[in-house]
Amino acid sequence: MKYYVGSDHAGFAVKGLVVEMLKNRGFEVEDMGPDTDERVDYPDFAEKVARAVAAEKGSRGVLICGTGLGMSIAANKIDGIRAAHCQDFYTAQMARAHNDANILCFGERVSGAGVIESMIHAFTTTPFEGGRHEGRVEKIMALEKRD
Ligand code: RB5
Repeated sequence: MKYYVGSDHAGFAVKGLVVEMLKNRGFEVEDMGPDTDERVDYPDFAEKVARAVAAEKGSRGVLICGTGLGMSIAANKIDGIRAAHCQDFYTAQMARAHNDANILCFGERVSGAGVIESMIHAFTTTPFEGGRHEGRVEKIMALEKRD
């Protein structure tokens, strides 16, 4: 499975760590930038990662900004994306199990390296439960088709 990873300047320091964590877990990883910690606008990188994930069935993304909020709000504007803003192991686990999230978002200014590692673990190992959650996720996706 391929992971697309992006950040803004406020998530840049952790982005390298996340890329390594994912590679160590055996995933193919594409770092979609930025390449420096110069100030940038998070919607630009949310869009890059979200469009890549939406275009490639089965791929996933990780987006990091200061809080994770701007990244999740922006990524969820792209059709096909279920970007989950998470702050701990449990929310990252449920994002996969109940919401079939395809992008994990979190904040470098919020979560420390240990929590980030636990979220990456939960997000990359937890399967979607399906069942009663299937119809709910379908209803979320149907919202994209409404005016
Ligand atoms: C940048 O200062 C900050 O606003 C951004 O990283 C993010 O937290 C926005 O949601």
